[in-house]
Amino acid sequence: ITFIIKGQEKTVDADPGQTVLEAAQKNGIPMESACGGNGFCLTCKCHVRKGADQLSAPNEREEAMGVTGEERLGCQTKVNGDVTVELE
Ligand code: FES
Repeated sequence: ITFIIKGQEKTVDADPGQTVLEAAQKNGIPMESACGGNGFCLTCKCHVRKGADQLSAPNEREEAMGVTGEERLGCQTKVNGDVTVELE
């Protein structure tokens, strides 16, 4: 996963099936998770810049939170391949 944070890129490894949030936390990326990764707070929201087809499909929590289009919740989105996401 390549994270874009305030214009700076940082690429980290994620295990297949790991969430964007789990990979961020494991690698010291400052993705917030006020609700503890349960899909209720939006602090882990990110924007997919590349590789949307390598992510799990949006789930019910994301739909309930109104996350649409290139927006995803890092805690609900699993990674299957190379992606680039930008943090807010
Ligand atoms: Fe709260 Fe993802 S950590 S919605």
